[in-house]
Amino acid sequence: MKLSVIGCGYLGAVHAAAMAELGHEVVGIDIDPAKIEALAAGRAPFFEPGLPEILVSASATGRLRFSTSMADAAGAEVHFIAVGTPQKKGSHAADLTYVNAAVAGLIPHLAEGDLVVGKSTVPVGTAAELAAKVAASGTGALLAWNPEFLREGFAVSDTITPDRLVYGLPPEAAQAERAKTLLDGVYATALAAGTPLVVTDYATAELVKVSANAFLATKISFINAMAEIAEVTGADVTQLATAIGLDDRIGWKFLKAGVGFGGGCLPKDIRAFTARAEELGRGESVAFLKEVDAINLRRRQRVVDLAVEALGGSVYDKKIAVLGLAFKPHSDDIRDSPALDVAVQLHGLGAIVTATDPQAIPTASRVHPQLAYAADPAAALMGADLVVLVTEWDEFRHMDPVWAKALVGTASIIDGRNTLDAAAWRAAGWTYKGLGRP
Ligand code: UGA
Repeated sequence: MKLSVIGCGYLGAVHAAAMAELGHEVVGIDIDPAKIEALAAGRAPFFEPGLPEILVSASATGRLRFSTSMADAAGAEVHFIAVGTPQKKGSHAADLTYVNAAVAGLIPHLAEGDLVVGKSTVPVGTAAELAAKVAASGTGALLAWNPEFLREGFAVSDTITPDRLVYGLPPEAAQAERAKTLLDGVYATALAAGTPLVVTDYATAELVKVSANAFLATKISFINAMAEIAEVTGADVTQLATAIGLDDRIGWKFLKAGVGFGGGCLPKDIRAFTARAEELGRGESVAFLKEVDAINLRRRQRVVDLAVEALGGSVYDKKIAVLGLAFKPHSDDIRDSPALDVAVQLHGLGAIVTATDPQAIPTASRVHPQLAYAADPAAALMGADLVVLVTEWDEFRHMDPVWAKALVGTASIIDGRNTLDAAAWRAAGWTYKGLGRP
């Protein structure tokens, strides 16, 4: 099929390349010429494992092109909207500027029978509004909502082999049928492999996405709340998580206590959900998400407080090695990253921070040039009075405590992700502090 993908960020670039890899003919469109130039040359403009490989292989087939011109969307039968919906400045609501601009820019290039498919995470009610705009354009095109559940770091496999597909279809039966047929064509490979499909209306599809992220955020903040209780009772939150996770109704996934969640999705999505629920007069229904957010932000502060404590009451003029900048491993994304936040806060308190990350130094240094960055853990650890691990990259998890001890000034570490073998680090002579652990 002929597809266009509007917006080539973490979501759109992967979607465009993955759809071409699956056999479709795809044009990826973005207003950022640097991004388009990189993608067209087969280079991923951000770190995403597996993306460079499929960019190269799909481009070689001639099925994948990139452009800065919306006019190049003409001729495609399905048009994916994959632009960002960041948090609005001065508010918790989602900023729909890019989504609205993408749809408005696309409308003049639509033809009878085309399908516009929303993938961006939007407040419930957005799809119906956009569908009305598409209908009013008189092009005869339709709109569907097809939320995306990919995780950064696993975006390629999550797109090619998703764990479920959700179609939010137009209310009118014949239009819904037309939209479904087109989407079934797009996802023929995944459907043939037995991927579960939920066919529903616009509002449900929009809500599936935000409620999934709200649930994940709640699960993380739940275990982090238990960490706070563990901290005043001498309990160990990691053992607690192991024990409750053995109940398969609860499970272990997203039950890792630590410095909390960040990234371009979970934090802004729970805030936008709260803002939208308030607009709908149902603020109380998701008021708990404000607590989820507050618990999450307190964990960053907890790591900073532990650092102050570990350094005898002040971090001023102390050398701190910060291991991790990305919001999670396998990503160079520093949006709302707890790791970067901790590094910046410690710097603000007068510490001499040297941060390192296998991928996120370029992204972090652009936003926070005031921090010192080291290319590898050895350089970051050199002479440190304290080590703070905040992103659980394998490079840090598998670090040899004996090797690390020979580099630092003082063998003291805060494990902000509860990811190291505490016994091994203590045995090597380190003062080890986890979160929610004695
Ligand atoms: C999240 C969702 O997991 C995806 O399903 C969704 O499609 C995506 O948002 C999106 O809306 O686009 P992502 O932002 O890539 O994906 O990151 P996650 O893997 O969900 O991790 C989020 C944060 O939670 C990270 O900072 C991670 O370190 C933290 N986390 C995760 C914990 O602190 N503890 C855990 O147990 C798990």
